[in-house]
Amino acid sequence: MNIQTVGVLTSGGDAPGINPSIRAVVRTALYHGMNVIGVQEGFDGLIRGEMSPLRARDVGGILQRGGTFLRTARCPEFKTKKGQRQAVRELNESRIDALVVIGGDGSMRGAKVLVEQGVLVVGIPASIDNDIWGTDMSLGVDTALNTLMEAVDKLRDTASSHQRAFLVVTMGRDCGYLALITGVICGAEIIIIPEKEIPLEAIAPEIEAAYARGKTHAIIVMAEGASHSPDEIQRALHEADVGFETRVTILGHIVRGGSPSAFDRLLATRMGVAAVDALIEGKTGVMTGLRGREIVLRDLDEVTSKQREPNLHYLEIGRMLSR
Ligand code: ADP
Ligand code: F6P
Repeated sequence: MNIQTVGVLTSGGDAPGINPSIRAVVRTALYHGMNVIGVQEGFDGLIRGEMSPLRARDVGGILQRGGTFLRTARCPEFKTKKGQRQAVRELNESRIDALVVIGGDGSMRGAKVLVEQGVLVVGIPASIDNDIWGTDMSLGVDTALNTLMEAVDKLRDTASSHQRAFLVVTMGRDCGYLALITGVICGAEIIIIPEKEIPLEAIAPEIEAAYARGKTHAIIVMAEGASHSPDEIQRALHEADVGFETRVTILGHIVRGGSPSAFDRLLATRMGVAAVDALIEGKTGVMTGLRGREIVLRDLDEVTSKQREPNLHYLEIGRMLSR
């Protein structure tokens, strides 16, 4: 397909790895003789026509930076017909022949809307939540897991010195992936995720049993999307007098920042190259995905209609190994 100008935008929550993916998109497209236009602040900037050409030097020095130098936004207006029509008009006026959309599952739904309006679009999955169907890992997940691991390791120092239980709450929206994997790699006594909730009354006996087994401290990792509140759990542990005093740490947006890990930089680079290659081959309405060690293309129809479920076997592994 003869594409002269490629646009690139980043949308939804930022994630480590987005910057190296922008760099890869821009430099791959330039290498193949295309022009590149960077759209500021996702679909919001697209609707407002906030865009400018990107040259090779413009994406220098961003490989190691977290966040997104194109900035990002959540844009309710793009969910309306009027906003979508305006976005397509801006693409036409700027003579953008094809668009790379980098973002989470919501952004992939936005990308699909543009495809339905006749725009050539390839998506790149980026979200610490790892809730996007069609890819083993989204950009940012590995870095977020490393941040979580470091945080829980540090909390463990205080937990073991003071014989405490720590309840650590991770981001992840409705998805328990980050909590699940963090729980396993940090040896948590209990992992609480929305996909398989534990009744509130079952938590204190588990921690009490850990104390009885001679544990000097306990770690509970909980996803923010789980239905119990941290306060409820802390109160239940206090009332049951489990042996440990409990402290709560809500890690919040710390988990979303930071320099992308080696894994994320490589994945971002491979996906950025693959997205431009896909457009050159005439593919549209697809998202780059990691399947095993391969980069594959997934249909946006499937990506936006299917649910990615975390592997609940990790719950059993976590339980077995934290005895
Ligand atoms: P993320 O991409 O990180 O999941 P959001 O869910 O907030 O973040 O989605 C980012 C943006 O994508 C939204 O602000 C909106 O502009 C666009 N978007 C999300 N869902 C849709 C939809 N169903 N139709 C059109 N645009 C959407
Ligand atoms: O989707 C990424 C994410 O960080 C979720 O884990 C979290 O629930 C949400 O975004 C927070 O959104 P905001 O930054 O708008 O508060």
